[in-house]
Formats: sequence, C-alpha cells, structure tokens
Amino acid sequence: MSIRHFLTLMDLSPDELEGLIQRAIELKSMHKNGNRHTPLRNRVLGMIFEKSSTRTRVSFETAMAHFGGHAIFLSLRDTQLGRGETVEDSARVLSRMVDVIMIRTFEHEKIELFAEYSQVPVINALTDLYHPCQLLADMQTYVEHRGSIRGRIVTWVGDGNNMSHSYINAARQFGFELRLACPKGYDPDAEIMAAAADQVTLLRDPVAAVKDSDLVVTDVWASMGQEEEQKAREKAFAGYQVTAELMQQAKDDALFMHCLPAHRGEEVAANVIDGPWSVAWDEAENRLHAQKALLEFLLS
Ligand code: CP
Ligand code: NVA
Repeated sequence: MSIRHFLTLMDLSPDELEGLIQRAIELKSMHKNGNRHTPLRNRVLGMIFEKSSTRTRVSFETAMAHFGGHAIFLSLRDTQLGRGETVEDSARVLSRMVDVIMIRTFEHEKIELFAEYSQVPVINALTDLYHPCQLLADMQTYVEHRGSIRGRIVTWVGDGNNMSHSYINAARQFGFELRLACPKGYDPDAEIMAAAADQVTLLRDPVAAVKDSDLVVTDVWASMGQEEEQKAREKAFAGYQVTAELMQQAKDDALFMHCLPAHRGEEVAANVIDGPWSVAWDEAENRLHAQKALLEFLLS
C-alpha cells in the first residue's frame, strides 16, 4: 500500500476527514474518562521545526506519549539539516528510523520534496502556504459546539495567509460557504481560491462579510517570517480587527476562533477572544485530540 501523507486537507477524502473528526471527539472522551489507549507503542514521531511553536509541538509530543510512543524534537540549530544536509538525504535517513515525520517550515515545496523521499507518512505542521492540522482542530471544535458545519457560513477576516488557504480547502472538503474579508494586496492565493470558486467569496468589507455568519475566524496580521512587515501590515489591516461590534453582525449564536498566538488589540479585540463568542481555548486543546486521530489514521 502506498504511504499516505497529510500535506494539505486535500490529501484525505471528505469521508476520511469526517471520520477523523468523529474519532478525535471519541479519543477526547476516552482520554477524559481515563481510558488508556496505546495503539502506537514503540512507534516514533520525528518533529522538524524550522519555526517557533507552542501548541503544535506540545500537542504532537503529548499525543505520542498518550499513545505509548515517543516523539523526537529536531530543530535546525542542532541537526545537520541546519548545516546544509539536503532535504532529500534528510528524508531518506530519518524515514528509515522513525515511523512518521512532522514538519513545520517555510516553503511548501520543501515539505513536498521531503515527502517524495520519505518512506513514512509526512505531516504538514505549517508551511507558508497551509496549516491543515489546525483545521482538524477547528472543525472538531465547531462540531462539538454546534454540530455539522456543512452548509454553514464561515467568515475569515484578515490576511490571505496559510490559515486562510487551509480554510478554503476546508470549505471544499467539509462543505461550508466561506467568505474572506481581506484588505487589498493581502488576498489569498488566486489558484487556491479558483479551485474553490463555488464555495468561496472574496470581499473587502468585514461588516458585509460577517453578516449572518455562523463562525468568524481570524489570525495574526504578520505571520512567522513576516516580522519586518509588521508596521506596514498594521496600517494595511486597520479596520480588520474582529471587534464585539463586528461579532454582533454575525448570527446570534456565532462562534469566534483563532489558531493562536493572538495579538489582542490588533487582529482581535480582547473582549472577543476572552468573551462569550470565543471557543479559542477548546480549539487549542483540540489540536491534541485531532492530531491523535490523524496519527492513528496514518499509522494504522
Ligand atoms: N496554532 C499553532 O499552530 O500554534 P503554535 O504556533 O504555537 O504551534
Ligand atoms: N499564520 C500564522 C499561524 C501561526 C500558527 C503563521 O504562519 O505564523
């Protein structure tokens, strides 16, 4: 059987994704009931981080510990990858030792190249183009709070970044309507949008976009690697903060999500992320449960 990778949400079928979300909910309740489930005993996850992380590292490492396996944290600072060993050679060698590899990097092409040379499943733990693991947690969180997301209206406010691209893929795979409110010059990738043309609309006005939405989502204005653009982006994104007034345009029972880390007073007001709409903390916790479902799926 050929190896399954998880580089984008499009690598799994809608049914497989639906199954993962249900399994994540089940694994969460098993864990909370003290039911020890150790399907990955003696299995090892290699975790390559070229960018910072709190949630992704801790959720993957904890997932492997819960499952009876082990995780190895690899950073550029102390591996040969950081001293110029090629991606191809690193993939060949690491995948002869570990059972699954997770990578957080800059160029999406790098993870595609790594996967091409890997003998074991490769998981995208964020690239400049996508963040599919986060979407598993987000979809799980929506289902837990409101039931199926199929046919719902989701509004993305802010940058047309990696998270927005994964939301576009999620609209296709989970069957919801996605509106993106982005300032001019910060649109999502045109090709990714075109592939989802039936489900996705690009607007400039956040108020119009949020109207009657079931879920409002945002993310930082400057992603990792864009730190030098912070000041310019603060200017460009003024007017794109998710405020309580903006949330009031959405449906009465609308939810707010943010992949975190958040910048209160920039992309989101404190009384939104810390207020009644926010499910950001469940969303963060669900990284653990959703990735357990993913690891089990890829390794079983
Ligand atoms: N949301 C997310 O991926 O968080 P980290 O950068 O902390 O892993
Ligand atoms: N768009 C953000 C997401 C962080 C989890 C970034 O890439 O930095």
